[in-house]
Amino acid sequence: MKTKTKPTSKTKPTNGDAHKAPPAAAAKPAKTPKPGLNADQMGKQQREISVSEFFTKNRHLLGFDNPRKALLTAVKEAVDNALDASEEAGILPEVTVKLEAVGEGDAPPPAVSQATRFRVTVVDHGPGIVREQIPRVFAKLLYGSKFHRLRMSRGQQGIGISAAGMYGQLTTGKPVKIISRTGQNKPAHYFEVQIDTKKNEPIILEKKEIEWEKHRGTQVTIELEGRYQKGRASVDEYMELSSIANPHAQFTYITPEGETKVYTRAIHQLPDPPKEIKPHPYGIELGMLLKMLQDTKSHWVSGFLSTDFSRVSPQTAEEICKAANLNAHKRPKDVVGPEAEALYKSIQTTKLMAPPTNCLSPIGERAVLAGLYRQIKGDFYTAVSRPPAVYRGNPFIIEAGLAYGKGPEAIAAPEKKVPLAEGEAKANEDNELARVIRFANRVPLVYQQSACATFKAVLDTTWKNYGISQSRGAPPAGPMVVFVHMASVWVPFTSESKEAIADYDEIHKEITLAMRECGRRLGVFIKRRERAHHESKRRDLFELYIDEVVEACKRLKGGKLATAELKARLTEIAKKRTGGQKTDEVLGPTGPTGLPNSIIVTAEGVEGDIPVDTAAPETISLEAPIPAAPMAVEPAATPETRAKGPAAKGRVKPAAKKKASTPKAKVKSAKKAARPKRKK
Ligand SMILES: Nc1ncnc2c1ncn2[C@@H]1O[C@H](COP(=O)(O)OP(=O)(O)O)[C@@H](O)[C@H]1O
Ligand SMILES: [Mg+2]
Repeated sequence: MKTKTKPTSKTKPTNGDAHKAPPAAAAKPAKTPKPGLNADQMGKQQREISVSEFFTKNRHLLGFDNPRKALLTAVKEAVDNALDASEEAGILPEVTVKLEAVGEGDAPPPAVSQATRFRVTVVDHGPGIVREQIPRVFAKLLYGSKFHRLRMSRGQQGIGISAAGMYGQLTTGKPVKIISRTGQNKPAHYFEVQIDTKKNEPIILEKKEIEWEKHRGTQVTIELEGRYQKGRASVDEYMELSSIANPHAQFTYITPEGETKVYTRAIHQLPDPPKEIKPHPYGIELGMLLKMLQDTKSHWVSGFLSTDFSRVSPQTAEEICKAANLNAHKRPKDVVGPEAEALYKSIQTTKLMAPPTNCLSPIGERAVLAGLYRQIKGDFYTAVSRPPAVYRGNPFIIEAGLAYGKGPEAIAAPEKKVPLAEGEAKANEDNELARVIRFANRVPLVYQQSACATFKAVLDTTWKNYGISQSRGAPPAGPMVVFVHMASVWVPFTSESKEAIADYDEIHKEITLAMRECGRRLGVFIKRRERAHHESKRRDLFELYIDEVVEACKRLKGGKLATAELKARLTEIAKKRTGGQKTDEVLGPTGPTGLPNSIIVTAEGVEGDIPVDTAAPETISLEAPIPAAPMAVEPAATPETRAKGPAAKGRVKPAAKKKASTPKAKVKSAKKAARPKRKK
């Protein structure tokens, strides 16, 4: 902005240039300032702000700050709810997401890349929603079943799907359309609702019973201003990541271009249902304690402590009261002021057991491994589940995983023309930084990476210790995907849009420990593989000369020599001198000894326990286009092998199409050019 320098200018200086007010202006006779408002006048301006009005103005807090992100957030909120509801009802989740570009008004839809409006439809096969609740669930902010309980779930605040609906209404004027049915013998209800932002109450525009082919479930359709782009932080990526973190769920995704992607289940069992827990005393603040003292149904303080909190036995409750110099039989409502403070202090200093952890439902090492293996191409996979830990009284579990390498196909057909020398491969991989995929309560987090505790902990891990190069303040380098999941009854997000996990020390430490274990295993794998490659190269060299040596010996012996025997013995020696069986093991298909919950992929096969439920008839079909199926119809899965699935998008470039060489050929040193050609 240009700074006004005209001395006669009557324009008020803006904040930025106030201090630069030209001296000439000061010379002018001072204007008598307008009298300000008095308290009465100000009082008349005070008004209540409804939560919907607040979030209309602050939509960025809910993840609707730009059209691209808004599209993702709407999908995410609906999918979260579908998964939460299905799991809570004990139903294996089956979710269909459909995106369609729509034109403004009656205009036909423009090309997907040009479209600014989309229709998002998400259908689940869950328990459905009772008719009376439908309007408030979809058109009232801060309304939900999960906020007031301590139990692991994807949604927390009751501000997910209603916010998405409100954003749609604001940007396109269209209502949210819902179909829901709670059982085969029940009718399906159709609703069109909008939110009255002044009152934060639903307005019902349409409600009727309809015929619906589904026996049970919920379908929500929102039209909103959005943009669709593939790549990082896209709906496509979100769907892929969701399937990694929810291997028990089946997802069907119909892209705006009409392509159908089916992510089938890898695990045909629901995770153990997480139990609801009471708050742990260490996790509450004084204000919270005061409120709980007022709200409790208990008649005695001791009873209040032992029934309203977890890990407080009646005996411990007595001890707490005694330490606080408080009559254990006092009415909780009467415990206020200094007495309440003493009680609070006493609670904090009493030794208590850590909160129970059956409120958590971690993904599990095997499932993490299965998810990574199915979705990401690599040579090495590993998964680690940390024991439960606690931050601010909230139990949590960190799970981590790693997929490393470009897959044996890429090694068998390297893009480089010259075979790589030792160490060269690494330098080549250095251009690429690891990709960190983050999850909280099984929900992929795709925005605000650098603000997230998970990413910070990945940066703070010394990857050099494990043979991976890393620049200061950067993620480790190399073809690598790092997986981090935090499961907790209350994930401390940095904002309501639930994009990044707050960096509590306890959380950071747990992630770091998980990273170290993954790194250690990766280090062992890399070292073993390097050594084996080196030995295999030497063996090749020996073998190269064995024929010639045998021939020479035969000539010396005047043609009287058991050549086959000599050759076999020399080969045996060559093998012994080059790591023996070990080299074969590392390069060949045997188990990843000493590396728990790990998978190694070589050109010869897969080693380790692949925890995918192979008994299931379903197969993954990630890229095969299936004609757009109508919503709510079971899509046919097309058999596809994992190898055809996408590597971590944007991470692994498709290997140059070259004739696949033998596994041994992949380790030829650069010196090869200088030595005689090996006869095949
Ligand atoms: N697809 C669904 N199936 C069943 N119940 C649902 C579904 N979607 C939403 N709900 C109910 O509506 C409530 C509000 O959803 P939402 O606004 O996303 O908040 P939150 O998920 O944070 O509780 C949920 O708590 C849940 O009880
Ligand atoms: Mg929700």
